[in-house]
This record gives sequence, structure tokens and C-alpha cells, in this order.
Amino acid sequence: MPLDISDIGKEVLNTHYAVRGPIVARAKELERQGRKIIYCNIGNPQALGQKPLSYVRQVLALAQWPELLTLAPEAFPADALARAKEILDKSGFGLGAYSDSKGVPFVREAVAAFIRSRDTDSSCAVASDPEHIYLTDGASKAVQAVLRLLIAGPQDGIMTPIPQYPLYSATITLYGGRQVGYFLDEASGWSLSKAMLEKAYLSAQEKGIRVRAICVINPGNPTGSVLSRDNIAMVIQFAKEHGLSILADEVYQENIYRPEDRFVSFARVLTELGEKVLSLFSFHSCSKGYLGECGQRGGYVEARNVSPEVLAQLTKLQSVSLCANLTGQVLVYLMVRPPHAGEASRETFLRERTAILGELGERARLLAEGLSKIPGISCQPVAGAMYAFPCIRLPQGRTDEDYCMALLEATGICVVPGMGFGQEEGTAHFRTTILPPREQMEEVVDKIKDFHASWI
Ligand SMILES: Cc1ncc(COP(=O)(O)O)c(C=O)c1O
Repeated sequence: MPLDISDIGKEVLNTHYAVRGPIVARAKELERQGRKIIYCNIGNPQALGQKPLSYVRQVLALAQWPELLTLAPEAFPADALARAKEILDKSGFGLGAYSDSKGVPFVREAVAAFIRSRDTDSSCAVASDPEHIYLTDGASKAVQAVLRLLIAGPQDGIMTPIPQYPLYSATITLYGGRQVGYFLDEASGWSLSKAMLEKAYLSAQEKGIRVRAICVINPGNPTGSVLSRDNIAMVIQFAKEHGLSILADEVYQENIYRPEDRFVSFARVLTELGEKVLSLFSFHSCSKGYLGECGQRGGYVEARNVSPEVLAQLTKLQSVSLCANLTGQVLVYLMVRPPHAGEASRETFLRERTAILGELGERARLLAEGLSKIPGISCQPVAGAMYAFPCIRLPQGRTDEDYCMALLEATGICVVPGMGFGQEEGTAHFRTTILPPREQMEEVVDKIKDFHASWI
């Protein structure tokens, strides 16, 4: 007898991942029929025309095919050649061999140096230990590994923001845990308040849930908000009071668009507060920022205040799948060790990075402003990350899923219904990326405007 759906466990059946759900399946079908689709459903920059950084691809090409080092050195800047040689020397066997389960040691050392330099200033020195860093296939696998550690039974709960990125809800369900949602306040730019955290915690306790950890996404997906230092300190205080671990998803740390905002890491604030007990897991990725190398699957997690025994379990989990892919590990290296001042690629690197981030900032502004002007839609500013999460007023009895499907059929624009991320009852939203090129962005806003007027 072939495998039947009734043989599949409820955890798998109950796992949902909205970003690639039925609306995307329908978009693919329409595309096969010849319709032009604008994919605004997923933060996949290079699928929407963003170019990879020259330096990154040059080093990668050399590391993948070392013969190029002698066959065509004239085609590469001197520092790209030197970096590729260094990677080949230090990795031992090149990119075709397994590495340590935690990742190549010199890349982990470079990540630790990056964290120290990013977070240290004259008022506070932040330490980072390469032995507490794990290189993973994208940040997704790191988040999943940490959730696997934390969810020990069906009563274990993980606090996630509402709205949240569905990696969290999906993985918590898959591992048989309980999602404990805390609401972000849309009216104040999706801010995070202690009262909301306490309310969610209390209600989980009343249901008999043992809350193990709180997850924070900063800058926010899907909200586009950027947390202040004080907000981060408040979360740390809250976690401490309740004995929770913290998962700090910081994959959008380079994507901050307004001059008044800046990225402050949880590691930095934890150090400022002198906190030595509370466990913190911080995640970063090569998929976002200005690299946008989603397909190369590079990411890492840094664990702080985690005992050697627990770290050994994390290492064991990583060793079950042997190691993260080596291309992704090299990408992480290039992310944390960009060309330095005086190196040949520095100028091109800076020019390309500035152009990408400048363009993303401009699109973030255009999209949020454009959507806010549509009667029946309100949109908070997109201060960071790669998304807008506008609130839509719908006719009685219609859902945001109906809306997004109808929008796709009418305009070819593929966005994700708010219900896939979670939202306050009685409200409706959709999530769109800020990634379409600028000329297409205007078309997107105009088409949504016409569609909205005709549909409601
Ligand atoms: C908040 C957040 N965390 C983690 C990820 C996972 O990124 P990756 O696995 O590509 O590194 C994403 C991807 O969109 C994200 O938005």
C-alpha cells in the first residue's frame, strides 16, 4: 500500500507556511498560462532583479574553482585573489568537503570578530567567543535548531510577536510546542510593550503552558519596525523576570532606512546590563541586508550565557546533518569580512552596497507612502527590513485571503494574507515586500489602488 495522508503525523499536517501557500501556487499556475506575475510574497531580492556584489561572487567563483587563480588571475582584483587563497588554505580541503559540524573555525572566528567590532564602542566592550557560534544553512536552520533545543514537550511555549514570520509558528507546531503570541501595537508603529508581554505570558500560564523563551524579530518582519535600545532592555528585563531564553532574530540588521533609527543588538544591550545568566541566541543571515544571497543559504547563531552541556547538545544536533553547506559558510565569511580600506575591491564594494541600500530605502518610502494614500488602506512607515504590512478595511464576511487571491487574479500581484502572520482579531492585512524595482513599485501601488476601489 502506498503511504497514505492518514499515516502522516498531526504535527506535520498542522504546520503552515503562508509565505509559500496556496496564493503562490496559484501565481505559478497563472504564470505557466502566460500571465505576468509580480512576486511580492517573499523577501528574495535577487529574484526581483537585485544584483549580487561583485566582490562576493568573485571570491566565491575562485574558491569554487581554484584553477581560476592561475588560469585567469588578471580577471580578478588582488584582494579577491588573496581572500580566495586564504579561504582555500584555511578551510583545508576546499568547498567540496564536509567541515566541522559547527562550521569552519576561521569563519566562526571572523563572525566573533565582527560581533565584537559591531557592538563595541568607548562605553561598552562586547565579547564574543567563536566556540559559541554555529554556522548554518541560512538563519532558518539556526532558528529551528534552537527551537528544537527549547521545546521539550507539548506544554512548552515560545513567545512570538503577532504578527510574526511564519518560520516560528511553523517550527513550533512541527516540534509539538505551543506558540504564545504577544501583540505588537500597530497604531504606534508596531511597537512592543511590557504590558502586552505580561498579558501574553499570563494567559499562557493560565492554559498550563510552560513558557520557555521569547522571540523578537528586529528589524521586524512583517512589520518593518526597528526597536529602540530601551525596548530591547525592557524585553531583557521581562525575560529575566520570567526565566526565559531570548531568540533575537537580527537578519535585517543592515536594512534600516531612516536616519533617526539605528540597529542595536541584543548582545550589546545584554552586555550593557551586565547580564550573565539569561541565555540569548542571536541570528544573522546572508539572505538579507545588501547581499540578498538567499539561494546560497548562509547564516549563523551566536549563543550567549549557554552552558557547555547545552552547547554540546546543539553541536550534536548540527552533527546529525553533518555540517552547513560550505558555500553558505564562505558567504558568511564574506559578509562579516568585507573588503577593508585600502584593498582593491573596497571602492566597488562601497558603491554597490550604498546603491542597494539606498534603493531599498527609497522603495520602502515610496511603498509605505503610496499605500497610505489609498482610501481604505493604512500603512505604518517601513523603517527597516523588507516589507510593508498594511491594514485593509474589508467588506463584512470577506477575509484577507479572499482579498489577496482576488488581487492576484485581477492584477498579477502576489502578496501574502495577514492571517499567515497573525493579526488582531477583526483586522485584516497583507504583507508585501519592498523589492520590486522602482518603476514596478509605482505600478504595484497604482494597481492595488484600482483593485481596492473595485473590490470593496
Ligand atoms: C525574520 C526572518 N528570520 C529568518 C529568515 C530566514 O532567512 P534565511 O534562512 O534565508 O537566512 C527570514 C527570511 O525571510 C526572516 O524574514
